[in-house]
Parts: sequence; C-alpha cells; structure tokens
Amino acid sequence: MADRTGRRGARENGALKILVTGGAGFIGSAVCRYVIRETNATVINVDKLTYAGNLDSVAEIADDPRYRFEKVDICDELEVARVFHEHQPDAIMHLAAESHVDRSIDVPAAFIQTNIVGTYVLLEVARRYWEELEGARKANFRFHSVSTDEVYGSLGATGAFTEETPYRPNSPYAASKAASDHLVRAWTKTYGLPAVTSNSSNNYGPYQFPEKLIPLIIIKALAGQQLPVYGRGDNVRDWMHVEDHAAALWMVLREGVPGETYNTGGGNEVSNIDVVRRICALLDEMVPAADGRSHTERIAFVPDRPGHDKRYAIDATKISRELGWSPRESFDSGLRKTVRWYLDNRAWWQRILETQYRGERLGLGPDAAGATD
Ligand code: NAD
Ligand code: TYD
Repeated sequence: MADRTGRRGARENGALKILVTGGAGFIGSAVCRYVIRETNATVINVDKLTYAGNLDSVAEIADDPRYRFEKVDICDELEVARVFHEHQPDAIMHLAAESHVDRSIDVPAAFIQTNIVGTYVLLEVARRYWEELEGARKANFRFHSVSTDEVYGSLGATGAFTEETPYRPNSPYAASKAASDHLVRAWTKTYGLPAVTSNSSNNYGPYQFPEKLIPLIIIKALAGQQLPVYGRGDNVRDWMHVEDHAAALWMVLREGVPGETYNTGGGNEVSNIDVVRRICALLDEMVPAADGRSHTERIAFVPDRPGHDKRYAIDATKISRELGWSPRESFDSGLRKTVRWYLDNRAWWQRILETQYRGERLGLGPDAAGATD
C-alpha cells in the first residue's frame, strides 16, 4: 500500500521510528494521527502537556501498538537523552513550541525557553545520538524542524515569501522561531546534522486550541458572544488545512534534502474580516438562530494587536516542483469541515474552556494580560 504521498510504500516505512515533539498539540496531533493512519511507522510522541497540549487530540491512536507517549519537557536535556536512548528513533519531527503570537506579547519568557533553548537541547542530543549511528541508519537519520512563515515578517500588498526571503520577525513568537531556525541551520552547516526545515502558513482544522482566530470565532459565535476582529480586519493570512500540512511534513521528512528548507502554504489568502464573515455564514446555515438574525451582527472591531503583521503569503513552488506536494483542501471545503467538526465535538473544546482558557482577550501586553474585550 502506498502512503498518501504516493512516493514511499508503507512497507518501506515499516521499520521507522519517528520521534514527534509537540504531538499533543494542534499540528503535532495531526502528524501523529497521519503517521499511524497512513504509514507503518512507529510514533514516539514527546510532549510536556502545557496549556496547549491535550491527549484527547490523540485519543483515536492512543491504543495503537505503534504509538507511545512520553511526557517530557524538551528543555530537559537528561530526559530528552533518555528518550533517544530508549527509543532509538530514525528521525525527529520537531513541533513542540509556544505557538501563540498574542501570548508571546504578554509572556515572552516561555517562548525564549521552549522555542530557542528547547530546540538547542534537541539539536545537541540529536547530534550526539546521530554521531554514534552507523551505516544506513546514520545516513538516513533526519531532524525535521517545523517552523512558520512569520519568521519572514510582514508583506505589503503584493508578493509572497520564498525560501530566499530574508528573515525579519516582528513578534516575540516569530523572533523565537527565527532563532530556532538559525540554530537548526548552524547545526547542519557546522556539525553536518542532516536537518530539514519547513516554514508553513497559518493552519486551521480540527483540534485547534480556541485561542486562535478560527476556533475562537466559532466558539464565541455559538456562545452568542461578540466576535473580536483586531484593528480593521484587513490583515491577510494564507490558510492551510492541518491535514494538508501533516501530509506535507511527512513528505519533507521522507523526501526533503538535508540542509534545505521548504515553504508550505494553502494558497488561500483571506483577510481576517472575510474569514469571520465566512464562519458566520456557515453557522447561519448550520445552526440558524431562532429569531433569524445573522451571527455577523456580533462582529466587533477591537483594539489592534501591537506589531500586527499586515499580510502573509507563501510561494510553495519549491515543494511542489521538487517534492510533488500540493494542498488538497480548498478554503471553502476546509472551513466547512472545520465548523462542522467544532459543532460535532463540543466536549473537546468545552473541557478546554473549563480548565485552560475562557476566551479572554490576549496580546495587549504584559500590563493588560487577561483583559476582556
Ligand atoms: P500548539 O500550541 O497547538 O502545540 C504545541 C505543543 O507543544 C503542545 O502540545 C505543547 O504541550 C507542546 N509543548 C510546548 N512546550 C513544550 C516543551 N517545552 N516541551 C515539550 N512539549 C512542549 O502548536 P501548533 O499550532 O500545533 O504548532 C506546532 C508547530 O508548528 C510549532 O512549532 C509552530 O511554531 C509551528 N507552526 C504552527 C502554525 C499554526 O498555524 N498553528 C503555522 C506554522 C508553523
Ligand atoms: P492567530 O490565529 O492568532 O494567528 P497568527 O497571529 O499566527 O496569524 O490570528 C490570525 C489573525 O487573526 C491575525 O491577523 C490576528 C487576527 N485575530 C483577530 O482579529 N481576532 C482574534 O480574536 C484573534 C485571536 C486573532
């Protein structure tokens, strides 16, 4: 059976052990589910279970004999070394991170620690481990670092980020991811560690933590609350469905050339206000209000995010040309499925609202942390 990339047969993947960091998060859990579903590889999910980590997101694979979970902080060198020693992975897909721009404005320290120090610890442990490997296992070992298009900064009205675009990060989150990418590059150039990096545009889809735009708007709309749109709502993001991203990540891991970077994007540039309006239209159709009023009536323009990047757009020509990847989901089909998923999986996000995050406004700075709209 071929996997969904069509390039590597599942049997060929049979012996692979993949260490996935951040596998209890939004994208990491999609990667774990993808690998278990589409390949014969084994997954070791290494996650600290921060506020954003949630084992409910990997419940459907938890009992699979090819899946293991290790509750470990990637900054803990001894523990990371133990995991490498015990599991002897063939590759690492590194997704563990503090990932929310607004939280990075309020509390940057955690971003410096996990996104920079954590990547450094993983690189050092992986380097020492890789240097001891021999033959094909050494030649085929990969360190895949999963990054963001936000490292490139903000675009004007035209153009798109390529792999050659200079790094110009603007938020503490983006700067910490840029630093992480630079460390990965240096470990490849200096020590020869066979690493690949991918830089992705905004993801959306099932199991996304409700602090991010799309789930936040769906959940607030269902609660009959105001729908907060930062500034004028004219900032543009290039949306990619998380399952398209998981397939791309697997392809980069298996086919990517060490030392190279690959941009991945959905080719769906949409302004924030249009995203919110489209969600409202879907909810008006799927759960019409008894009084016939539209959810759009609760859209509220709220103070802008400090340093808010205007526009992101990814030029995914390289991964398409060199690895043959392209996204399958259009924004219309993907958003419809996503709204449906949040309607059908209320228990998943209601537990988060009860224990981790109640939908308060974040990102107005350390002094305003926790402010409400
Ligand atoms: P997420 O916040 O949903 O998940 C992050 C996961 O990392 C959580 O499970 C958390 O518990 C874990 N984690 C955090 N700190 C850790 C630590 N010190 N040790 C071990 N585990 C830790 O994030 P996401 O949206 O799934 O993003 C995953 C990766 O993809 C990140 O590296 C992010 O920068 C990158 N990325 C995300 C997007 C996006 O749109 N979400 C786009 C491009 C790139
Ligand atoms: P977000 O999902 O936080 O992703 P990122 O900042 O990584 O792009 O935000 C997506 C866009 O939506 C961004 O331009 C900020 C905006 N936004 C709002 O307008 N309202 C909100 O409540 C949130 C969380 C984000």
